[in-house]
Amino acid sequence: MSGVSPTETLDPARVRELFDLRSSYNAFMGGGYQEDPYPTWHRLREEAAVHPGVVHTLTGYDGQAFFAGLPFEDRPHFSAFSYAACDAAYRDAEVFASATEPVDPNVGSPNPLNSMLSMGGTRHRQYRALVQPSFVPNKAQWWIRNWIEQTVHLLIDNVVDQGRAELNVDFCAAIPVLTITGSFGVPVDQALDIRAALSQPDKIVGMIKPIVAARRESPQDDLISILVEAELADEHGVTQRLTDAEIYSFVLLLLSAGSGTTWKQMGITLTALLQRPDVLRAVSEDRALLAPAIEEALRWTPTDPMFSRYTTRDVDFYGVHIPEGSVLHLCLGAANRDPARWDRPDDYDITRTRRPSFAFGGGVHVCLGMHVARAEMRVGISALLDRLPNLRLDPDAEAPRFVGMYERGATEIPVVFG
Ligand code: HEM
Repeated sequence: MSGVSPTETLDPARVRELFDLRSSYNAFMGGGYQEDPYPTWHRLREEAAVHPGVVHTLTGYDGQAFFAGLPFEDRPHFSAFSYAACDAAYRDAEVFASATEPVDPNVGSPNPLNSMLSMGGTRHRQYRALVQPSFVPNKAQWWIRNWIEQTVHLLIDNVVDQGRAELNVDFCAAIPVLTITGSFGVPVDQALDIRAALSQPDKIVGMIKPIVAARRESPQDDLISILVEAELADEHGVTQRLTDAEIYSFVLLLLSAGSGTTWKQMGITLTALLQRPDVLRAVSEDRALLAPAIEEALRWTPTDPMFSRYTTRDVDFYGVHIPEGSVLHLCLGAANRDPARWDRPDDYDITRTRRPSFAFGGGVHVCLGMHVARAEMRVGISALLDRLPNLRLDPDAEAPRFVGMYERGATEIPVVFG
């Protein structure tokens, strides 16, 4: 078996240094935003389903948030705030494309955008079909058994005797990176090196390269082995294996799409529960309530409340004329609290009738890793409830708040237990 061996340990000081919260909410994603955007998003949705402009400016944030503006400063921007408008855009991937132009992972240097995320049509379908089997709900146990469970317990081992912890960094942060790198066949000590090199694709490729070569020689029970054996059929039905370049871009996509997201979303879920001790107790006593608690947190406060689409032709959309080549921001956070779909949308209520939300996006690009993310959150939170009795927010520390514009998450989550 690959991944974390039970004898390995995680150096808590290194984890804290690598997952420092101050650097994790960065300007690129509007990390300076400290308010609650939902009242403004309600007002904007009531005024119109679609507005000209970008989400952060419309929300009244004039700090930095490059994610939304660059590299498209020269294109017109629009933003959708209703569930119906986001749904319509997600359903029509031909008019509302995921990228401004087609990508080819074999051209240019490996990077997360040079991947299925930016592909459309048949090509996207073919690439996605290759990897989908490793990410279906039935594969959750494969991820849990091989990588998630051991990582979660290593992290709890570090705090269990201390009576207190800061769950955002001591716990939530490292689980997704170690899960993904574990699935690549990278041992824990090197996994932390990958985290350290997260903004340097060349370095990461350097670490993955020998693994790809080794798995081409002798496949194992891990994701890189599945990728090296996968066959892609071209339009003439001729099959080919993925090139190293295609595998590298996919690896970089998984690291960038699956790490910060699951970290922040697990912290949001824990915060929602810790701030409602009755709900936390109910979930602790009946673990069947954990899945609805996670789903409701995804709806109520999705960590990524905005994704962009690019119009491939002129379109009249919810009363607004959007010219070809425009950027349309889908404000998924606003859509997830649309009162046309959910009663009392601002309430975090784990007993509400579950209806799919847009926390994982929608349409053909719906999150590939959603079942892995759910498994990480479920196993992680359940293990905390099992091993840290009487878990509660530290009454002497500052209470957690949600911050950030395009990547939202909790400030510190200080807890005591025992
Ligand atoms: C709670 C955690 C997560 C959230 C909230 C999240 C959210 C999303 C969203 C909203 C999209 C759609 C983007 C769009 O519309 O353009 C997406 C796509 C994607 N996500 Fe996630 N994600 C999470 C975890 C993960 C994990 C753990 C992985 C991998 C192990 C992953 C891999 C991907 C990939 C590969 C795509 C692109 C799919 C495609 O283009 O067909 N995500 N994610």
